[in-house]
Amino acid sequence: MKVHSKKLVLASILLLVLTFFIVSCGLTGKKSSSLDEDEEQDLIVVGFSQPGAESSWRVALTDSVMESFTEERGYKLIYKDGKSKQDNQIKDIRTFIQQDVDYIVLSPIVETGWDTVLSEAKAAGIPVIICDRNVVVENESLYTAFVGSDFKAEGDAAIAELESMLSLEEDASKELNIVHIQGTIGSSAQLGRSGALERALEKHPDWKVTYEACGEFTKAKGREIMTTALEEVGPENIDVIYCENDEEAYGAIAAMNEAGVSYGSDSGIKVISFDAMNTALVMCMEGQISVEVECNPLQGPYIYKLISRLEKGEAVPKITYVKEQHFTKDNLTAQFIEKRKF
Ligand code: AHR
Repeated sequence: MKVHSKKLVLASILLLVLTFFIVSCGLTGKKSSSLDEDEEQDLIVVGFSQPGAESSWRVALTDSVMESFTEERGYKLIYKDGKSKQDNQIKDIRTFIQQDVDYIVLSPIVETGWDTVLSEAKAAGIPVIICDRNVVVENESLYTAFVGSDFKAEGDAAIAELESMLSLEEDASKELNIVHIQGTIGSSAQLGRSGALERALEKHPDWKVTYEACGEFTKAKGREIMTTALEEVGPENIDVIYCENDEEAYGAIAAMNEAGVSYGSDSGIKVISFDAMNTALVMCMEGQISVEVECNPLQGPYIYKLISRLEKGEAVPKITYVKEQHFTKDNLTAQFIEKRKF
């Protein structure tokens, strides 16, 4: 064998050994966190139960919580998606109790029906933080704290903006026909936002809801409902669409585009929406959506602060509302939207 071919054989063997080494490391190696067992045991374990993934808003909430509770900060987060069913969320909480997590963070799909499972968490000595939407329980000591939105204030802000827009119109006293696309019935977000509209209807006898249905906070349902509303009541009998989140507004707008119906701040049907996700804010700045009320999904840092305080044995407030604002095309700029995180 010539010298150069010997070298070639040697190099091939080396390459084989190296490949074997890399592959076996990859197969048996730990995940990127690579904490040893002792370090894993030191982590504070947080079980996070989400109702589903019905909207981009909810994905932003999940991301915010995940970014706040990292191993680098001393936490292990266990995330569960309830797939839009309260029963699944209840099962997920029971799993957290069996796993003996240190804290449970619950974003409840609806307000009621939590007493039993929260009593079980309390009996196991696990503090529960309710986030995003609230719960209605017989005994408020079943949860430690609530962090989330003031949905009543959100609804009132939307109505106040609508009233002020209408007051500027020439025929300010004309009858107002409203299509109401509700969120998941029984959720705090729906109850607060629908409640504001109901109070407005009592206050303004010339306002009436011509079509109402539950859009489950999804684009597909929003589109379906708006298509039916256009067919059943006709675009000429619709002045305002009160959508209880951005997904529903995107769906309603898609239905109007399809039907060739005009909408927007300057002419046609006014669209009111909640969440103020960046895509919706661009549409608001361009005049397609008339009012956007923010629902702030960046709740992870608030929950993190609360749990850090509980870890130090400090008292925490029972209710913390996240900061929220509202928009029309008059207070929006492209620079402002670009800087926002959601
Ligand atoms: O509870 C908050 C609401 O739930 C948001 O408005 C909506 O987008 C989400 O699905």
